[in-house]
Amino acid sequence: MKVRTQMHEDTMSDPDLFKRGMRRLAAGVSVITTLDDGRPAGFVATAVTSVCADPAPSLLICVNRSASCHAVIHKSGIFCVNVLGEGDVEIANLFSSREHRHRRFTDCDWEALETGAPALTGALASFDCRVSEKMEVESHTVFLGRVATIKLWEREVHPLLYVDGHFDSLRSVALAKSAA
Ligand SMILES: Cc1cc2nc3c(=O)[nH]c(=O)nc-3n(C[C@H](O)[C@H](O)[C@H](O)COP(=O)(O)O)c2cc1C
Repeated sequence: MKVRTQMHEDTMSDPDLFKRGMRRLAAGVSVITTLDDGRPAGFVATAVTSVCADPAPSLLICVNRSASCHAVIHKSGIFCVNVLGEGDVEIANLFSSREHRHRRFTDCDWEALETGAPALTGALASFDCRVSEKMEVESHTVFLGRVATIKLWEREVHPLLYVDGHFDSLRSVALAKSAA
């Protein structure tokens, strides 16, 4: 095996290059919800990772301190991860743009599971969690969530993806392949 050691612009470690590299990591898209003194709050996230399934299912989310839900999750200690499907681009846009914050919960159907954080009934899946640990990392907090309830709302699994700065779906790849 040959190991190339040459350093040039595209191999140095800096925040911009990090972001460009991470944009190539295709990710599922979720709406994370919580409760702010009984009022629903939520935002879009791709930084959602399964941690373990046994004996207690757990996952983690990374939340920017600048997100309005950051302080709310700290305080409430609950959040629900709602995995979006390919038809949910409008919801994703709503939950990731500040100017539409007031409209976020007006159009879709939501249901409280165990913790009370809103679960999106049209999502692919919802993971209703209680915060079990927190870790501060520079601009973000990593919240570890112990899953209290899981709902699989849809039979078919066609996820919404985010890659290279835009929303996409697996089906567009499949369609492109079958057309070729
Ligand atoms: C595709 C996508 C993925 C995102 N992932 C995260 C994430 O994992 N964590 C995070 O804190 N913000 C993430 N954001 C940014 C928030 O969704 C966005 O800043 C949102 O407006 C924050 O909520 P607020 O407007 O109520 O403060 C993401 C945005 C997009 C478009």
